[in-house]
Amino acid sequence: MDKIVALCKRRGFIYPGSEIYGGLANSWDYGPLGVELKNNIKQAWWKRFVHLREDIVGIDAALIMNPKVWEASGHVANFQDPLVECKKCHERFRADHIKNGICPNCGTKDSFTSEQMFNLMFKTFIGPAEESSNIAYFRPETAQAMFVDFKSVCDTNRMRLPFGIAQIGKAFRNEITPGNFIFRTREFEQMEIEYFISPPKNNSDWQGFFELWRKEILNWIKDDLGVDMNKIHEHEIEAGERAHYSKRTIDFEYDFPFGCSELYGLAYRTDFDLKNHEKFSGQNLKYKDPETGEEFIPHVIEPTWGVDRSVLVALLDAYSEKEGRVVLKLQPKLAPYKAAIFPLLANKPELIKLAHKVYLDLKQNLTIAWDDRGNIGKRYASQDEIGTPFCITVDFQSLEDSTVTVRDRDTTEQDRVKIADLMKYLTERI
Ligand code: GAP
Repeated sequence: MDKIVALCKRRGFIYPGSEIYGGLANSWDYGPLGVELKNNIKQAWWKRFVHLREDIVGIDAALIMNPKVWEASGHVANFQDPLVECKKCHERFRADHIKNGICPNCGTKDSFTSEQMFNLMFKTFIGPAEESSNIAYFRPETAQAMFVDFKSVCDTNRMRLPFGIAQIGKAFRNEITPGNFIFRTREFEQMEIEYFISPPKNNSDWQGFFELWRKEILNWIKDDLGVDMNKIHEHEIEAGERAHYSKRTIDFEYDFPFGCSELYGLAYRTDFDLKNHEKFSGQNLKYKDPETGEEFIPHVIEPTWGVDRSVLVALLDAYSEKEGRVVLKLQPKLAPYKAAIFPLLANKPELIKLAHKVYLDLKQNLTIAWDDRGNIGKRYASQDEIGTPFCITVDFQSLEDSTVTVRDRDTTEQDRVKIADLMKYLTERI
C-alpha cells in the first residue's frame, strides 16, 4: 500500500485532500492522472451496463433528497454501526473492527466502553435556520434515487420488466474508522443498478436474476477492470449480518494488501424500498403490466460497485516492478494516457514539428502524452510508471518515410508503423 500511495502522490494520481492546510484525515483528491483513470472506469461501466444494453437506462439525481426518503428507506432507524471508545487513549472504533479486544491505537487490552449505535448519515440543514425541521442528509447510497424516480422513469421511457435504472455518483457516510487510503472514506463514489423484476412466484424466479448479476459482476472484474481473478472471492453474507433491506447478499472481495475485503456487492432487496416509498409518500408506485393490465410492486436485484475501490484495485493489480522500475500494467482502455509521443531529439525543429503534428492528430480521439525531456530510456520508464500502453518515437527515418516506432509497454517490443495507420493501430490494441 505504501508503494501505491507514494506512486499516486508522485505522479499525480491521488493526493492527500486539503494538503496545504495540513490535510483532512482520510480525504483524498484525484489529480490529473487519477481523474482520467477514474473517468475511464466510470465510462467503461456506463458503456457496458447502459449503452450496450436495451434493458437499462441511467439517471443522475440530486445528492440531497427529501429527508423522508431516509425514513422510508430505513436509513434513519437502521443505518448505524456499533461504536466503542478506548478508555485509555479515547480513540473511537467500530466495535466489529476490534480484534481480540486490543485497541488498534494504543494496544491496551479490554478497556473499551460499552457499544453505542452511531448513525452514519451526514446531516446538514436546508436554508439559513439550523432547526430540526430543516435537517437533511447527504445521501449514503445512490440507490434510493432509483426507487424515488421509478415511476417517472417507467412513465417517460415506457420501460418493460425486467429492466434496470443505473446511476453513478457520490455517496457520503460518516464512517467511524475510515482508512486504508481510498478504500474506506467518508465521501466516495458508487456505480449502482436497481434491476426491477416481477414479484417472484417462487425462489428460483429471483435466484435466476441474482445468478445473472453475479456473473455480470465477475465478467466486469475480469474484462473491464482486468484483475487477476485468483484474488477475487465471493462471500455469502449470513442473515444476521445483512443490511436491513436484503434477503440475500454476496460480497465480492479482493485480496488487498491489508487483507481480503469487500470490493463490490450484490443484494436481493425484494420489494422493501418501493413498498416503503409508496407507504411514506402516499403515491402509487406500482408497475402496470401493459399486456395484462395487472398492477404490482416489482422486486429488485441490486448489483453495486464502489468507484474508488475499483480505482484502488486497478492500481494494486497493475503494479509490478521490473529491474527496480515500476511498470503499471493497467488495461489499455483504463490507462490515463493511451500513448506518449517522443520526438527523438528536442533540438531538431523539423522532428519537433512532425512529432507535434502526430500528437495533435491523435489527441483528437485519444488521451496522449508529450515528452521531449531526457533520453528515450528515461521517457519509457516514466510512461511505464503511469501505465501508458504505447510510446511512439518520431525519429530521422520518420522525416523520410512517414513511419514511427511504437513500443509496447508490456512486451517492450517495437513496431515500425506508418503515421497514416497509427490511429487504427492504437485503437485495435486498446
Ligand atoms: N446500495 C447498496 C450499498 O450502498 P454498500 O455495500 O454499503 O451497499 C456499496 O456499498 C459499495 O460502495 C461497496 O461495495 C464499496 O465498493 C463502496 N463503499 C461503501 N462504503 C464505502 C466507503 N466508506 N468508502 C469507499 N467505498 C465505499
